[in-house]
Amino acid sequence: MKKILAVLAGLIICTAVFAGGAKDGSAIKVGVSMPTQSLQRWNQDGSNMKAQLEKAGYQVDLQYAGDNDIPTQVAQIENMIMGNCKVIVIAAIDGSSLTEALKGAKDRGITVIAYDRLIMNSDAVSYYATFDNYKVGVTQGSFIRDALDLDNAAGPFYMEIFTGPTDDNNTNFFFGGAMDILKPYMDSGKLVVRSSQTTLAQCATLNWSMEEAQKRMENIISANRYGPEGTRLDAVLCSNDSTANGATNGLLSVGYTAENMPIITGQDCDKPSVKNMIRGYQAMSVFKDTRTLAAKVVEMVNAIVKGTTVSVNDTTTYDNGLGVVPSFLCEPVAVTVDNYKEMLIDSGYYTEADIAL
Ligand code: BGC
Repeated sequence: MKKILAVLAGLIICTAVFAGGAKDGSAIKVGVSMPTQSLQRWNQDGSNMKAQLEKAGYQVDLQYAGDNDIPTQVAQIENMIMGNCKVIVIAAIDGSSLTEALKGAKDRGITVIAYDRLIMNSDAVSYYATFDNYKVGVTQGSFIRDALDLDNAAGPFYMEIFTGPTDDNNTNFFFGGAMDILKPYMDSGKLVVRSSQTTLAQCATLNWSMEEAQKRMENIISANRYGPEGTRLDAVLCSNDSTANGATNGLLSVGYTAENMPIITGQDCDKPSVKNMIRGYQAMSVFKDTRTLAAKVVEMVNAIVKGTTVSVNDTTTYDNGLGVVPSFLCEPVAVTVDNYKEMLIDSGYYTEADIAL
């Protein structure tokens, strides 16, 4: 009896650890489609997910779509569909460009999980795993409000805005969350955007490109004569680190230093931005621990494979045009020079060497 129990226990442990069935050589295949390798976060997302899925016993087909190349991403997803992946996890470059390709997935009974960015206009998307994107924007807006003490100081204060591309659904949430905090101060005149560029379309950055953000910052600087000795600029709301790096470079090129740099926000805690926080160039970034998101996706994949309930914590927010996609939202956290050691080094996300100046 004892022996039987021991064997049973062993079996249970094996199925828990090897949900993907690697033990008998018939590993279930999971496709992971990432947008680009040019931004650090997606490399980190891809490798964390591959490692965690393989540990759970799955065979992983991880693909990066060149440098945000939509036809490449479509072709890679089509290969995953033809290659018998049971689940495909996708961080879309353009959330609206996958409708056709994903029809094949639905026809073949493949489950699609949208990763970080929602896939629009497709009924083939079953789940969405991301961070609370609205909260990211609220965190950035609140940081500027508190740093400038907008509720008490007389003002006016001067700010410019850089957000992501309009084809990334997250952009609406980052921009919307930040504006929900800052717009009342803009309306009352305490916060002034001298360029008058305040709509999402005017503040958008193609492909989240650092170079595009830098060019736009340089144009705004010359049109408004911003400079350490010129017109005052108190804050730059940037939706992520690549746009923050572009804005920072533009400001550095006209002579701003750590002593007089406006308050610049960011997101991702990419290494260059962590270094800029240590140098005093960037005031904050929003940390989205890709290990947590990867772990959540592995949990979803396990549940899908076993046919058990997939755990979600939001069933109202993310409508992709054809209905609300059940989502799991992880918590974003504000990081500054005061807590980066605890959040990024002590947690093992980076080594000291990773962010050494
Ligand atoms: C992600 C951000 C990232 C940006 C650029 C967004 O969809 O949520 O974390 O900075 O894309 O890659």
